[in-house]
Amino acid sequence: MGEPPHPADKTGISAHVSIGDTLTSRNQVHASASVLGIPFIRTMMPRPRPADGRLGFGRYLTDHVLVAEHEAATGWHPPRIVPAGTPHAEYASAAIQYGLSVFEGLKAFKSDRGEIRIFRPDAHARRLEASAKRFCMPEVPVEMFINSVRAIVRAEADWCPPHTGGGALYIRPTLHASEAFLGVRPAAQHVFSIILSPVDSYWDGEAHKLRLWAEREFTRAAQGGVGAAKTGGNYASSMLAAKRAKEHGFDQVMWLDAIKHEYLEEAGTMNVLVRIGDTVVTPPLEGTILPGITRDSCLTLLRSWGIRVEERRISLTELAESARAGKDIEMWGSGTAAVISPIGELVWDGGSVKATSSSIAPRLKAALDGIQSGRAADPFGWLIPT
Ligand code: COI
Repeated sequence: MGEPPHPADKTGISAHVSIGDTLTSRNQVHASASVLGIPFIRTMMPRPRPADGRLGFGRYLTDHVLVAEHEAATGWHPPRIVPAGTPHAEYASAAIQYGLSVFEGLKAFKSDRGEIRIFRPDAHARRLEASAKRFCMPEVPVEMFINSVRAIVRAEADWCPPHTGGGALYIRPTLHASEAFLGVRPAAQHVFSIILSPVDSYWDGEAHKLRLWAEREFTRAAQGGVGAAKTGGNYASSMLAAKRAKEHGFDQVMWLDAIKHEYLEEAGTMNVLVRIGDTVVTPPLEGTILPGITRDSCLTLLRSWGIRVEERRISLTELAESARAGKDIEMWGSGTAAVISPIGELVWDGGSVKATSSSIAPRLKAALDGIQSGRAADPFGWLIPT
C-alpha cells in the first residue's frame, strides 16, 4: 500500500502491467494497471457519462468498484479495483438475510485548478470502524480505508464533476457480511467495497426551505440500539414514516426520542441544528443519532467564529415556547449528501414552528463550499489529495 505514483503518469495510474485478465462477458477488461499499489482492471465497456449540472444524487454510478475480502481466519486480502457489475451475488449472506452491513458517505471535490481532493476521509474511516464494531464485523484499518478511497477516486477521476452547483464525486464505502450461512452469529467472511457516484443536489426540484414532519408514532432509535451506527437498517426502518410524511407534503421526517417522543434526534438523512437567538443548539451524541462528519464540521466552524454552541436535548415544547416568546429561530440539516439544508418549518401533531430568519446556515454553507472548492484556506486540514 502507499506505492508512489508512476513517474511517467500524472494520474498515478501505473502503465499497464499484466496480472491476468480473467474477467469475461460484460466485464471484459483491458490489461491491468495499478493505482496507489492497488491492482486496477479496467472495463472495456465504459458507461456513458451523464452531463454535469443535472446529476441529482445517486442516480449514476461510475465504471469500477473497489473490493477487498476479509476472512476471519486470515484477515484482509489486498483490495483491487474491477469493473462494476462484477458478480457478488450472496443471497444467503448475513448482509442480505440479517442486515449485517455498514457504510459511509463522503465526497471528493474538484477545485477550480482541477485538483481532486477528499473531504475528511480519516473521520469517515473512524466512523466506519465504530459502526463495524457494533455489528461484530472486522474493522477496516484507517490506512487501508484512506488508500482505497484515494485509489478509486484517482482511477475514476474523469467522473468527478466541477464543483459549481454542488458537484462532487460521492463515495460510498460499504462493509458487508458475505458468508453464505443462515445461522445467526457474527459472519466469518466480509467484503469491503467502494462505489462512486457523480452528484450535485440531493434534493429534487427547485431549491426551497424544507418542511419536516416531527414523527411521534414511529421511532428511529432507542438507547442501547444501533442509532449511532451507519447501517442500512436505520434507513430501511425510516421508509414508511418518510413515505407518509411525503404524502402529506413534507420533505423528510424529524425523528424524536423513543421514550417521550418530544426531543429532536435527527432528520431523515441529516443531523439537525437549531439557532435560538444567538445560540446554536444540536442534539448530543448519546448513542441514538449518527455522529455526522458535517455536523462536526459545522460545530468546529461555529466555535472558531466565536458562536455559542450547545450540544443538548431540544424539545418541541422549547421550540414552540421560544417561538411564542418571539425569539429568532433558524433551523437546518447537515450531512454529506444534504450538505447544509435550511429547514423552513417543523410540524407535529399539536404544533408547529417556523424559521424566522436565516443567517448561520448560509454562512456555514459558504464556508464549507469555500474550503471544499479550494477557493478558501483549509484551516483544519480537512481535504486530502487523491
Ligand atoms: C450521507 O449524507 O452520506 C448519507 O449517507 C445520507 C444518505 C443519503 C443515506
